[in-house]
Amino acid sequence: MNLPDLNQAKIRTKQKIEVRNATNIKSDLFVGKKYFIRTYGCQMNVHDSEEIKRILENLGFRETLELENTDLVVLNTCAIRENAHDKVFGFLGRLKHLKKEKKELIICIGGCMPQEENVANILKDKYPFVDIVFGTHNIDDLGKMILNLNHQQQIEVYSIEGRVYENMDYIRDSKYTAWVNIMYGCDKFCTYCIVPYTRGRQRSRKIENILKEVNTLKEQGYKEITLLGQNVNAYGKDLEENYDFATLLETVAKTKIDRIRFVTSHPWDFTDEMINVIEKYQNIMPYIHLPLQSGSTRILKLMGRRYTKEEYIQLYYKIKAKIPGVSITTDIIVGFPNETEEDFKETLEVVNECKFDGAFTFIYSPREGTPASKIKDTIPIEVKENRLHKLNEIINSYSLAHNQEYIGKTEDVLVLGQSEKGKDKVYGYTKTMKLVNIDGAVKDIGKIILVRITDAKSFSLDGQKEIFVQN
Ligand code: SAH
Ligand code: SF4
Ligand code: F3S
Repeated sequence: MNLPDLNQAKIRTKQKIEVRNATNIKSDLFVGKKYFIRTYGCQMNVHDSEEIKRILENLGFRETLELENTDLVVLNTCAIRENAHDKVFGFLGRLKHLKKEKKELIICIGGCMPQEENVANILKDKYPFVDIVFGTHNIDDLGKMILNLNHQQQIEVYSIEGRVYENMDYIRDSKYTAWVNIMYGCDKFCTYCIVPYTRGRQRSRKIENILKEVNTLKEQGYKEITLLGQNVNAYGKDLEENYDFATLLETVAKTKIDRIRFVTSHPWDFTDEMINVIEKYQNIMPYIHLPLQSGSTRILKLMGRRYTKEEYIQLYYKIKAKIPGVSITTDIIVGFPNETEEDFKETLEVVNECKFDGAFTFIYSPREGTPASKIKDTIPIEVKENRLHKLNEIINSYSLAHNQEYIGKTEDVLVLGQSEKGKDKVYGYTKTMKLVNIDGAVKDIGKIILVRITDAKSFSLDGQKEIFVQN
């Protein structure tokens, strides 16, 4: 794999950035044909799939949710942990059978997995029935590759040199909430993480282009946007212009779009200016996803996270003090190589101190080519599983306790769609990103309404639309 060494990675180089526009290859060759897309991994991939859908629809395809009825399949893959790989290879087994029955089925693999050289080779050698393999840096080649199909496997993947996408055209999953990429790639090179290799070095979009996109979304009636990047608060550090994430947030807030969110923030890049801007603008939501990863300063150092346990806690309290009602969630990895019982205890200490609103928790998974994968690990998997279990129990108890505090309160909720919990129910999110299942608001999809919270579980709230009776 094309891996920069860590020392080199720490030097910020102004790389040559290629700005690429949306492809507008249009054809009626596939009119009447269907595509099926499955997306793995993070929001970045979810948003990339919105680009893939546009490319396919421009060729005449329409989406189907039924695998058996499709003419083309795209798997938009993730490489963050081994189990992400396993899921894709498992699914490929199913597709192999399907293709035996339906020879003309077109199978495409994109996303982060093909960016790993070994995976690209495995697809070449062991999965000849896969027609097209593309990567994260050339999604826009997909249309061309489909039109060039000639019974030979096509693999086109570029290494880490990046592109910035402008003037994109997406088939967005929602009409009310939209992703807005503000940057691509990541420069942090946490020692366990594959993302800087699958997505390349950090490339920020120019502020005026982001602003244009937000204004367009607002005109189209979008109520909410989420500024998207692997490390959003490092925004701008790679640009010649002197602006940072606080400037961007303030600029976007001034558009007066109803709701602004952002993911993901790195504690090391969190500045006082950012906290001040979040506090100042009512349309910046009081919700921050702030990955901790570990509570042990020793492990944090081995992870290359650049902050100590104490610095994280200090930042946490600073944010809590300045932003009323803020909810803070986190990511935690257990079982980093040679994590001791003492290290794990420190993680629990931070969790008990910060009482997060929620957390995504993971067992460390070695990723080939990353520095951490070279560390010999002596901790048995059962120990790691026990730690994860213990951690989850504590996290869930805090999530429930936070959620219970909402009972009886009235919250602003952006209603996004029909709830899975029942025909007459819809779902939406509070400002603090709590999922609410709501009675009596079917006509309110796409609106921000007042909801009285009636019940709380660990992962969601129940509520009723507040109806004001005028005297
Ligand atoms: N850019 C974000 C998210 C990156 S991936 C951030 O920095 O927080 C999402 C999460 O996956 C990470 O926060 C981390 O907790 C987890 N993760 C990343 N690499 C991992 C690995 N090798 N094993 C287990 N979990 C990992
Ligand atoms: Fe991975 Fe996030 Fe670290 Fe970047 S900041 S290397 S995406 S964990
Ligand atoms: Fe996975 Fe790639 Fe996202 S590895 S987590 S889909 S950036």
